[in-house]
Amino acid sequence: MSGFVLGVKFVGHDTNICVLDGQGRIALAIEEERIDRIKHSNKFPLLSINEAMRGYGIKADDISYVAIPFCHELFYDRINLMKDYFRDNKTFGNESYEKLEKYEYQYIEEYLLGSLYLQEIFPKAKLIDVRHHLSHAASAYYCSPFDDAAILSIDANGEIETTMLGIGKNGKIEQLESVPFPHSLGFLYEYVSEWLGLGRLEGPGKTMGLASYGKPKYLDIFLDKIIQVDENAGTFSICPEIISESPPPLMNIGFLTELFGRDPKMADTAKFEEFHADIAATIQQVAEMVTVSLARRLKRLTGMNRLCLCGGVALNCVANEKIYKQGGFDEIFIQPASNDGGSGMGAALYVYHHFCDLGSGRKAQFQPYCGSSFGDDVVEETLLKYDLPVRRMDDVEGWTAEKLAEGWLIAWCQGGAELGPRALGNRSILADPTKAHNKDLINARIKYREWWRPFAPVVLYEYAADYFDLDIESPYMLMTGLMLNDKIPAASHVDNTARVQTVRRSQNPRLYDLISKFAKISGVPVLLNTSFNIGGEPLVRTPDEAFNCLFRGGLDAVVWGDYVVLKGDCDPDRHVAVQHRITGRPAYEEFVVRTKEKIAALVPAQGDMIEGTDAFSRLLFINVLKSGGKVEGFLRREDRYLDTLGRDTLYGRRIIG
Ligand SMILES: [Fe+2]
Repeated sequence: MSGFVLGVKFVGHDTNICVLDGQGRIALAIEEERIDRIKHSNKFPLLSINEAMRGYGIKADDISYVAIPFCHELFYDRINLMKDYFRDNKTFGNESYEKLEKYEYQYIEEYLLGSLYLQEIFPKAKLIDVRHHLSHAASAYYCSPFDDAAILSIDANGEIETTMLGIGKNGKIEQLESVPFPHSLGFLYEYVSEWLGLGRLEGPGKTMGLASYGKPKYLDIFLDKIIQVDENAGTFSICPEIISESPPPLMNIGFLTELFGRDPKMADTAKFEEFHADIAATIQQVAEMVTVSLARRLKRLTGMNRLCLCGGVALNCVANEKIYKQGGFDEIFIQPASNDGGSGMGAALYVYHHFCDLGSGRKAQFQPYCGSSFGDDVVEETLLKYDLPVRRMDDVEGWTAEKLAEGWLIAWCQGGAELGPRALGNRSILADPTKAHNKDLINARIKYREWWRPFAPVVLYEYAADYFDLDIESPYMLMTGLMLNDKIPAASHVDNTARVQTVRRSQNPRLYDLISKFAKISGVPVLLNTSFNIGGEPLVRTPDEAFNCLFRGGLDAVVWGDYVVLKGDCDPDRHVAVQHRITGRPAYEEFVVRTKEKIAALVPAQGDMIEGTDAFSRLLFINVLKSGGKVEGFLRREDRYLDTLGRDTLYGRRIIG
């Protein structure tokens, strides 16, 4: 095997990897959080790399390209961008500037250490930096069924931009326009969520749910003091007052407290007040205004009928419905791993289609179940380990359908794990949606989350129009639709909407058959589908974790493939905590220590030239900058280290102080 592309996202949260084979097909995509069990893990994804190498028989020499969803050179530009921004908009002292520089240098250093390590473990591979939003764009465009499409990527931040309007045509992606940092809808949504007490990374999804309980009463204040939106032009800018002068250059939630005269942070997120819901409804309304007007702008720019949506903001399924209905596009594809969890895959796809001459260049068919999978031998081994009966069902779909109709809560695990934050029927907890109390039961016994958050329905594609006012497929649970009847109270929200997943048999045959059998018993071709995890942990990945949940939580049964384990099979005294095998990561940590020591011993003096094209030379350079040194000029030279900036890479800088 050779000609593989490895995408690796390793700086910041939601680190992950993706392996493409020589035909550009996704062989495997894993988020590190699924293995290290740290939600939104920001650890170097060595456990995921090891799983790809060991579990799937991929060797280091098979990897021809390593794609990284960050152009680290642009972080030097970000320092200047922020300096200019503060000079034009706010007072910004030297002290703040130094702090800002140090913060960005730290980020670049982290990037360089990771890329140096990747060079070491994949010595034959070419490393390629892919601009962050191009990575998001690639994750949507190359996974979509469209030949040509407009592309809208919106997240908290890339390198120097927060939003990208682009186009995918004839298999290539082009960036048309962007919104520069720090004007960020994603950050604003995150910071308002944090201000409410719902959290930064976990918060936006909760805020979107809370918005249904409120009214956008504060829209005028938001549009006057926080974010300016020109709906006709399709542009927006964040007001300077809320931009923090203290690095990291993000937002100042103290400004919100001052503006509204209160600090609303909820100590107990189960107890929200009208104010919280109204603020949530307001930021949701802002998000819808901005995203719809951006989509319309993109429609005017491209004239296209198809849209690919990506970036973390594309997980906002309520805004997605508005984009579909008001944005001017006939068809929409939304990448299920729109957040950074899919950015390694996006970078790999971008590199395959733009840099490689490895295959036909045709887009490979995408399905979201490209995470870890386990054979029957692993399942049986795990059952034996826990002294659980090995019980195989001939008709596992029929048995599960019957038990669900009786009111059981069942974890349903099949094949490869889903990429992205939504469980789509391979690591799901399923329940009967016609029983209203199931919602409270799942919350109280398994999920331990706020009572006011909704659960989603998964419906057979053919019957979706009987239940939801939604004339588009929603295979990844990323569109909301108004409920057309009251048959599934456990899977509808307070405002009579639902976050719908439609399923065709070709997309997930076992899930489809299960729902069909449930429909024969209940008359309803819908199940409640929520992610299989306990109390906010990352989605379950292995049989070990799945069966452990039976000991710990209030599930009635776990189904894995054809195997069934009942709650009654479990002796609570035999509860064994999942052992996370943290093998491999210490190797990276040791590498970092070793490299830093090497660099400390090689401090360049004034007049020295740092010349080299590898990450180590760059690390030397960044260490000069970190310690307050100055440099002049640089040489430009082609090397094995490419990026997508369309400019020569640079290497060789003279220390002048
Ligand atoms: Fe992103």
